[in-house]
This record gives sequence, structure tokens and C-alpha cells, in this order.
Amino acid sequence: MWKGRFSQDTDEAVVNFTQSLDLDWRMALADIRGSIAHVRMLGHTGLLSKDDAETIEKNLKEIAAEIHGGKFTPKVSLEDVHMNIESRLIEKCGATGARLHMGRSRNDQVNTTVRLYLRRELMDIWTGLDSLISVLLKKAEEHADIVVPGYTHLQQAQPISMGQFWMAHAQAFLRDARRFFEAYEAVDECPLGCGALAGSTLPLDREFTCGDLGFASMTANSMDTVAQRDHFLDILYFAAVFGGHVSRLSEDLIIYFTTEFGWVKLPDAFCTGSSIMPQKKNPDVLELLRGKAGQLNGALMDLLMMMKGIPLTYNRDLQDDKRSLFRAIDCLGGIFSVLPNLLKEVAIDEEAANRGFADGLILATDVAEYLVLQGVPFRNAHEKVGHIVRYCVENKRPLTSLTMDEWHKYIPEVKEDLLPLLSPRKSMERRNTFGGTSPTQVRRQIEDAKVKLALFTEEANGFKNALPEEY
Ligand code: ARG
Repeated sequence: MWKGRFSQDTDEAVVNFTQSLDLDWRMALADIRGSIAHVRMLGHTGLLSKDDAETIEKNLKEIAAEIHGGKFTPKVSLEDVHMNIESRLIEKCGATGARLHMGRSRNDQVNTTVRLYLRRELMDIWTGLDSLISVLLKKAEEHADIVVPGYTHLQQAQPISMGQFWMAHAQAFLRDARRFFEAYEAVDECPLGCGALAGSTLPLDREFTCGDLGFASMTANSMDTVAQRDHFLDILYFAAVFGGHVSRLSEDLIIYFTTEFGWVKLPDAFCTGSSIMPQKKNPDVLELLRGKAGQLNGALMDLLMMMKGIPLTYNRDLQDDKRSLFRAIDCLGGIFSVLPNLLKEVAIDEEAANRGFADGLILATDVAEYLVLQGVPFRNAHEKVGHIVRYCVENKRPLTSLTMDEWHKYIPEVKEDLLPLLSPRKSMERRNTFGGTSPTQVRRQIEDAKVKLALFTEEANGFKNALPEEY
């Protein structure tokens, strides 16, 4: 396409090194849709005759049909998706096709194509995130009354509702949803008409193409538009944080699934066996999910490093922006293909969970708080309970088995009314502060989360309705 200026053919290794077809061919239909908007605008403004505009649109739609039918084989020698489609257009309708690229550069074209492509891909990601959060809310409802140990430092801390555990992870994913929609909004701006970097001498109508493609608005500055990739970084940041959340959830379940903890049961269909040890049931799916955070963080770092120090405006470095972005998007697709369905089938063995409570020490805070209500300053209460815990440990006595005489030896303030409070279930039920672990609080949280999720779904539906028809 630049043969006018050059006296040598491009070196073959350079052709392979500079091509982006392996990356960008997946956006072919989005690229065609962007070109259709461009050609409609050219017809609308009179830069193209109505006939020419219609011919080009018709031929572009035929090319889309060729792609759908698997009849289009793109050539690496044509460098990228944009040149492949344009040259096919020119092959089909000659001089008319050659008019398409007026007032447009690949710099604003690729920008438009990716944003169009992403708007659809992101809706798939939303579907995945939505189903993940929905499953967690269901699990929380299902397990609101199940008592399990809660940990700090991976040491038993206080009894919690399993519903509170699921909601803790659901809250993280709800925050991810907020980040997700912010990233979506950053993507939802139309760059078409910015040209190579400075706009155009031709009377283009940017508002027209923006409207035809259903973007929320136009980008504000032609130079910034072709130079920046913040909207990719927003997606990658969302993905990296989300990946960390998936990883932590996976790790929790892997730990609770071990024989040593043993109170989470994973579905056979989401575990694998060993080729040598017949007894094994391994949480491989969760381990792979835990590891994905590495890829997602890597993708963010890749683009952050690439973007620093690129002078305004477009530089070819930017072609590789899609490498990390698509890697992350594919990785997210993999996560959503297994995680919600796996979680649906996680079961809790409450009896096994409660075996860990046998020494009763997990109720120590409850005793200290009981003493506070008897008027003992908390620091003194903490110390007194510490002594009685030491007594229990040294004499191998469960805290819940002490006689009144034993209690009184260390804590004279204790009365009979303490004893009925000393059960893990009571302990969980009495933690009824806003956001606490009582089933009442868990259920209120679930209701609030449902409202949030419904608002997100509404937002997503608005975005879906704005997506332009694709051919
Ligand atoms: N394939 C290129 C990309 O993805 C298209 C833009 C090429 N522009 C240029 N000035 N060489 O970035």
C-alpha cells in the first residue's frame, strides 16, 4: 500500500515481524462494522455518491458473509485485519472500493475496531461476572445457618456463618463489577474521524459515525485518541484485581478441602485423580484458577511498561497492545467457564467443621465481651480470659467443660448465664452488628447485594441495547 514511496520490497522476516494478523483477525467483523459506519457517513456528507456508498456497504456485508462461511483466508503479507478486508473490497469492487479509506487512518480505524470488538466481549465478561456473583448469593442463602470456623493468620479466630464467607467473596466481586463498568465506559467512546493524529481536511461528520456505532460519546482530542490506551489499562486493572479475588477464593477452598481441614466438599466433576495414587481427589481446577492471577497481573504489567515513554502520538509499539489485552480476555473467559458451576456444587460438612471447635477456645472473645457487659474493662477481661485459656490448654480441658468453681478461680465475675452463650452457633448468632456474621446480617447483606446486582444488570442491558447491529 505504500509502494509509491519505496524502491525495495519489504524483507520477508520484516513482514512476519510487523504483521498483526495473528492478533487482530478475530476483530474482522467489528472492523467491517466500523467501515460500514464510515462509508455511511461519507455517503451522508456527500464525500461519496449515494451509489458508491451503497456499493461499498453491500460489498462489505458480502465480505462479512464470506468470513462467517469460512471462505475468507486472510494473508499475512497484507499485515493486518484492516488491510486484508480493504484489499478484498478493492478486489470485489475496484475503484469504488478504493474510495473507502478517505478521511481515515489505520490509527483511528484500529482504535474504533478494538472498541467495537471490546464492547461485545465485555458484555460476555459481564455475563460471567453476573453469574459468578449470583451463584455466591445463592450459596450464602443456602449456607447462612451453617457454622464454620473463621480464621485470621489461618488460626481459628471466631465462629462464622458459611453465608458470611460466601458474602465476603461476593462483596469483592461486586467491587470488581464497579471497576468493570468504569472500564466499559472508558471503552465506550468513538475515535473514528481522528485520522492519523490530527483530524481531517475533509468535512467528516464524527457525530454521525458515533451515532451509527452506538457509542456513548466521541473522543475529545485526535492526538490523545490515537496515542493513549488507558481504556485497555482500565480493563486490565479490573482483570488483575478480579484475578486476585478468584485466586484467594480458590485458595480458601483448597485449604478447607484438605484432609486436615476437611469441611469443604468439592464436586467430583470439578476435581481430577492421580495417575499413581488411587485414593487421590485433587482440586486441580481451583489450583489452575489460583494461578490465573499470574497471567492477569502479567498482562497489566506488560501494557503498563509498554505505554511508558511512548512519545505522542501513534507509534508501532501500540500494535502489541492487543497481545496482553486479548490474553487477559481469554483468561477471563476460561475462569467464567468453570468457576460459577464449580461453586454451585460446593457442599459443607458442618459436623467436620464443628469438630475443630472441640476445645471451645474459639469462644474466648465471647467470654471477654460477656465480662465487658458485667462492667469489667476490656483489657482486664482479655487478661482474665487469657489465664483461663492457658488453664484449659495446660490441663487439656475444653473451655465449654469448665465447672463454675474452675471459672471462679480465675474470673469471679462469671455467672451461670455465661454457660448457654458458650456454643459456636450462639456465638455466630450474637455477632449481629451491621455487616457482622449473624444469619440475620448475612441475609440483609444478600438482599442489599441483590439490589446492587440488579442495578448493574440494568446498566449492562443499557450497554447491550446500544450495541450496533453486526453483519
Ligand atoms: N495493525 C496496526 C495496529 O494494530 C494498525 C495501525 C497501523 N498504523 C500505522 N501507522 N502503522 O496498531
